Amino acid sequence: MTAENAALYINNGDIVGFSGFTAAGAPKEVPTALAHRAKSFHDSGKPFKIGMYTGASSGFSLDGEIAEADAVLFRTPYQSTTDMRAAINEGRAPYFDMHLSHLAQQMRYGFLPKPKFAIVEACDVTEYGEIVPTTGVGIAPTICQMADYIIVELNRNHPTELRGFHDIYIPVDPPGRRDIPIYKASDRFGSLSMQVNPAKILGVVETHRHDEVSGFTPLDKITEKIGQNVADFLVREIKAKRIPKQFLPIQSGVGNIANAVLSSLGSNPDIPPFDMFTEVIQDAVIGLMENDKVRFASGCSLTITPEELSKVYGNLNFFRSKIGLRSQEITNNPEVIRRLGLITINTALEADIYGNVNSTHVLGSKMMNGIGGSGDFTRNAYLSIFTTPSTAKNGNICAFVPMVSHHDHTEHDVHVLITEHGIADLRGTSPIQRAQIIIDNCVDPLYREMLRDYIKYCPQAHTPHNLAACFAMHREFYTTGTMKNVKWEKYV
Ligand code: COA
Repeated sequence: MTAENAALYINNGDIVGFSGFTAAGAPKEVPTALAHRAKSFHDSGKPFKIGMYTGASSGFSLDGEIAEADAVLFRTPYQSTTDMRAAINEGRAPYFDMHLSHLAQQMRYGFLPKPKFAIVEACDVTEYGEIVPTTGVGIAPTICQMADYIIVELNRNHPTELRGFHDIYIPVDPPGRRDIPIYKASDRFGSLSMQVNPAKILGVVETHRHDEVSGFTPLDKITEKIGQNVADFLVREIKAKRIPKQFLPIQSGVGNIANAVLSSLGSNPDIPPFDMFTEVIQDAVIGLMENDKVRFASGCSLTITPEELSKVYGNLNFFRSKIGLRSQEITNNPEVIRRLGLITINTALEADIYGNVNSTHVLGSKMMNGIGGSGDFTRNAYLSIFTTPSTAKNGNICAFVPMVSHHDHTEHDVHVLITEHGIADLRGTSPIQRAQIIIDNCVDPLYREMLRDYIKYCPQAHTPHNLAACFAMHREFYTTGTMKNVKWEKYV
C-alpha cells in the first residue's frame, strides 16, 4: 500500500511504536505521511496527535516531521532532532526520559499505554508473519508483540541477506524470567527474525530510502586528545593488572567524542583486539573490524553513514560473523553488562567537582537528547568512564561546576572523568579528594582557581557546599553570557 493509505489507519489519540534505534532502522515513509495527515487535520481546525514510542532517537522523517506538525501526544525515550528538541523545550511535546533498557518491559508490565500500531522497517517480510529488521532493532520485537496492527516498511535499500545479523529475544516477565545466556559478546541465542501473527499486518509500504545517519565532524585537537587520554588510561590499567591482559568488552556512547575515542583505541598498539558490547555501532567500528582490532560488535543499531554501510553490504559474509543486532532490552541489560565486565565510555554535558554527572539538561533545564543507555551501562560497568571537553561555547561554559544543574549519574557510579587536559581517577576517594583530583587534572586552567575558591566558601562537611553559591557559575552565564567572571562573595 502507499504510505498515505497506511497513515489513514491512524487517528488522533492513537499510540504508535516505531522500529529502529537512532536513524538506523527507523521507518521513514509512513511517519512523514502521518505528519502530513496531522497537518491537514490541523488546517481544518481538528486535533491530531499521536503517542510515540521509539527505540531511541530517529531520523528527520520520523521525529522531525511529526514534531514539526505539532502532532505529539507524548514522546519517549531518547530523541535528538532539532525539531523534536524544540517541541519538547517549548512545551509542545510532553516528553518523559527513560533508561533505554526499561522501555520495552515497562510497556509489557502495563506501566505505559499499550501501543495500538507498530510501524516497523524490514528488509524482508513473509506471508507467515516473519519480519526481518534492517539496521536497528530497538523496541521492535515488543511493539510487534503488543500492537493490534502492524505496518511494515519494506526498505529495498537493505539486502534480504541482512537475515542472520539479528538475535531477537523477548525475556519472559517476572516472576518467570530466566537468565539471559550471553557469556561473551558474540553469543547468540535468539531468533533471526520477529514472528508476528500475519493477520495483524495491515500492509506493506515499499521504500528505497537511506537511513538518515549524518557523518561525524572531523577530529579536532580536543576530541583527539580526549581519545588519546582514554586509550592511555586503559593501557595504564592493563599494565597495573586492574584490567585483564586479554582486555574486556567496550561500550562506547554516541556522538563525535565517542567516535574519536574508538579511533584512538583502535590505533593504540598496546590495546589488544577487543569485543564491543554496546548500543550504537558507529562508523569507526567498521574500519576497526576490517583491521581485526574489533573482533565482534553486539549492538542494537548499525548507525553508520551510507559509505560505511556500503562496505558492510559489499562483504556481508565477513560482517555477518562480526555483528549481532539485538533489542535494547538485551544490549543494555544490567545482568549481561555486569557479567561481561564492560568498560563503559560515555559523554557528560557537565560534571561537578564531586564526580556527579549531568548528561541531559543544558544549564539544568533544557533537554538535550535524553539519558539514553548511559545509565544502564554506567551503573553496571566493570569500569565506568565519562569524557567531556573541559569547556563549551568558546570557553564561556566550564564543564565542571560546584553542583550539577541536573543529576543523571551519581558519584557512586562514576569511576573516571577524562577531558583533553587529563584523567581524574575517582575510585576509592572521598568527596574532597575527588574535588582536588578533578580540578587539578580535568578542569580548564582558566577555571581551576575559581573552583578551588568555591570550596573555601563552603562550611566544613563531608561534601562541602555553599547552597547560596553552588549555582553561581550557571547564574553568571545566564546574566553575562560567560562563567569566566564569577565572584563568589557576590553570592555567599
Ligand atoms: N552547558 C551547556 N551546554 C553545553 C555544555 C554545558 N556544560 N556542554 C556542552 N554543551 C553544548 C555544546 O556546546 C553543544 O552545543 P552546540 O552544538 O550548540 O555547540 C552541545 O551541548 C553538545 O554537543 P554535541 O555535538 O551534541 O556533543 P556530543 O555529540 O559529544 O554529545 C551528549 C554529547 C552528552 C549530548 C551526548 O553524548 C548524549 O546525548 N549523551 C546522553 C546519552 C548517552 O550517553 N548515550 C550513550 C549511551 S549508549
